[in-house]
Amino acid sequence: MLIRTDRDGFSHARSSEITPQPVYEERRQWLRTVAAGAAGGTLAAWAGRDALAAVQRPGKLAALAGQPSQVAGANTMETPTAYADASQYNNYYEFGLDKADPARNAHTLKTTPWSIKVEGLVAKPATFDLQELLQLSAQEERIYRLRCVEGWSMVIPWVGYSLAQLLRRVQPLGSAKYVEFVTLADPKMMPGLRSRVLDWPYTEGLRLDEAMHPLTLLAFGMYGEVLPAQNGAPVRLVVPWKYGFKSAKSIVAIRLTDKQPATAWNKAARNEYGFYSNVNPDVPHPRWSQSSERRIGEGGLFAKKRKTLMFNGYGEQVGQLYAGMDLKQQF
Ligand code: MTE
Repeated sequence: MLIRTDRDGFSHARSSEITPQPVYEERRQWLRTVAAGAAGGTLAAWAGRDALAAVQRPGKLAALAGQPSQVAGANTMETPTAYADASQYNNYYEFGLDKADPARNAHTLKTTPWSIKVEGLVAKPATFDLQELLQLSAQEERIYRLRCVEGWSMVIPWVGYSLAQLLRRVQPLGSAKYVEFVTLADPKMMPGLRSRVLDWPYTEGLRLDEAMHPLTLLAFGMYGEVLPAQNGAPVRLVVPWKYGFKSAKSIVAIRLTDKQPATAWNKAARNEYGFYSNVNPDVPHPRWSQSSERRIGEGGLFAKKRKTLMFNGYGEQVGQLYAGMDLKQQF
């Protein structure tokens, strides 16, 4: 998100921080084997997963592994961004406006105890503590591209499961059309709340069918470990076909409603950040183009930009959700 123009923001991705990813090369090979349907090879590769997971962990936080997801589109073959970049170049305004602030300040975030209240237009409202949430469904690893509205992107191996698993548990009523996500706003832990840039708490929203889409991920970990605080611990959303700000961090409540919920960024700048915020190279932000992006870790300022793909490349999976809509009007 841009409050100020952050022209040199990409210099954070120093080429010295690009670490080789032999582990991911190996995993990609494994995925190719699966895709090719070579059963014998698959089993052999599967047996090697434990060893793989051990190497993959950056070794800072508690391990949280997931089995490779079977959800269509959930595993991009692109090389994941270095952990150092994914965990140190963040937007988490509750901990400051600079990209380096969350990694510096988010150690004050206390994630135990933690629970999410799921309420509103559901037959079975409930509060789930973190342990219950973790056990609600099998953890999957999904490698997603995440495109930020500011013009950069990363590729991150997340650990979690489809949000739909949680929503089904509370049984949405027929009248439910939208889902609102409310995140933690605790001034004792979050120095950024002193700033008035947003109307706290940070909230986000999806249409119910978007929230139920199997690619919409409730994430508890990344790179085989629990989420670092600055990436939205202990539980966050990842919606890979939408700009990054839709992926709310540190969620404390989920509300099903019949009216489109207000969202923090839409309230802050209605003409710049729409409710849908699907990645769309044909709809420029009022102050800059959205047709290309820099991949963090690819050679800093001088790296060649990549073309931004419609729905961030997930059109095959999610395009039908928007059939008949004018995406220039409903951006
Ligand atoms: N969630 C909260 N609660 N507060 C925030 O400031 N920033 C958003 C989103 N979720 C934000 C948030 C933005 S702008 C982006 S790009 C993504 O988180 C960044 O996620 P990452 O740090 O894991 O890359």
